[in-house]
Amino acid sequence: MDLHNQYPSLADLRHRARRRIPKFVWEYLDSGTGDEATKARNRAALDRIGMMPGILGGEYTPDLSTRFLGAQFPLPFGVAPIGMSGLMWPDAEGHLARAAARAGIPYSISTVATQSPEDVGPHLGEHAWFQLYPPRDPEIRRDMLERAKAAGFTTLILTVDVPVSSRRERQVRSGLTNPPRLTPRLLAQVALRPAWAAGMARRGMPHMRGLDKYGDAAINSRSPTAHMGYLLRTAPDWDYVKWLRDEWQGNFLIKGVMRADDAVRLEEMGADGIWVSNHAGRQFDAAPAAIEVLPDIRAATGLPIVFDSGIEGGLDILRALALGADFVMLGRAFHFALGALGPRGIDHLIDILARDITANMGQIGARSLSDLPEAIPLSPR
Ligand SMILES: Cc1cc2nc3c(=O)[nH]c(=O)nc-3n(C[C@H](O)[C@H](O)[C@H](O)COP(=O)(O)O)c2cc1C
Repeated sequence: MDLHNQYPSLADLRHRARRRIPKFVWEYLDSGTGDEATKARNRAALDRIGMMPGILGGEYTPDLSTRFLGAQFPLPFGVAPIGMSGLMWPDAEGHLARAAARAGIPYSISTVATQSPEDVGPHLGEHAWFQLYPPRDPEIRRDMLERAKAAGFTTLILTVDVPVSSRRERQVRSGLTNPPRLTPRLLAQVALRPAWAAGMARRGMPHMRGLDKYGDAAINSRSPTAHMGYLLRTAPDWDYVKWLRDEWQGNFLIKGVMRADDAVRLEEMGADGIWVSNHAGRQFDAAPAAIEVLPDIRAATGLPIVFDSGIEGGLDILRALALGADFVMLGRAFHFALGALGPRGIDHLIDILARDITANMGQIGARSLSDLPEAIPLSPR
């Protein structure tokens, strides 16, 4: 049967993924921080953004392509960096990199991925983005940047909305530790998910492979309890942005910007773009919805803007573009797709999103993405 008949939307993939990955993995992937008010706010705020339908536009095929950071993309979205991606599905990073390359969309790898830049290098397409959790040690920083560049990553993303680790209470309740340790409780959860378990048995329990090389530095560092990713990482400041700008010749994006004045300052410092995000509600439960702050940031800066946080379909992508984003990324969605259907789920999700954008562009009478009508506020449903 056609996948579109069985799983017409992301909600269907999410539902199936939940039944195919162990509970502690699900809780890691799906949870926000606190009471998950920010996560809920992201959804509610997106739902309130409307556009007027357009009529009598005649017959046409909408053009979904866009230019961003000097490159041409067939679609206006890509894969956001997800730490421990390979915990959600075996070889997630490899599958995502290959699917993104086939579709011509960006793939972002996290510093704390379960595969190293060298592992995924051979699978990368033209648009490979490397996300940095900023190492404290300048030697390690330089080494990471060199490795990323040598592996084929052309765009650097500095994530700035994780100055400290967040308390993800749902994750804690599920029994997940970092790095994951298979306690009897977790093993009982794994036993209920045979496809996931078989894949992990073949590949071994995932860990942050890209950081293996820096083991000694982590052992010598301060905290005896935190995992490798946290041991190496510092809370960056404005000087850190400057160092990175001087060290990295490719495109440089700052991820986790929620304020217009920060965007302006980053523009002055030579960033190539900013990434508006509240980390999908995983960091701070009193943050506004990311989509709510987008218009002010758009008005304040001429920099290219990437947007994420709570995007669940093609219509959401159009909403963000209508409010001034230039490009849109999705994190959880791609992992729901993988959990639901394995690697073919990624292609299917890309197809769902493209069809959804196309259908909605038809309704608003937009021929291209630069032709979107102004967003209007909707009443709550
Ligand atoms: C399980 C999980 C892990 C994440 N890990 C990282 C990470 O390592 N680095 C980073 O910059 N952002 C990370 N993020 C945030 C995503 O890059 C992205 O901002 C967010 O997921 C977008 O919202 P969405 O999941 O609703 O699409 C993570 C998000 C999730 C859900």
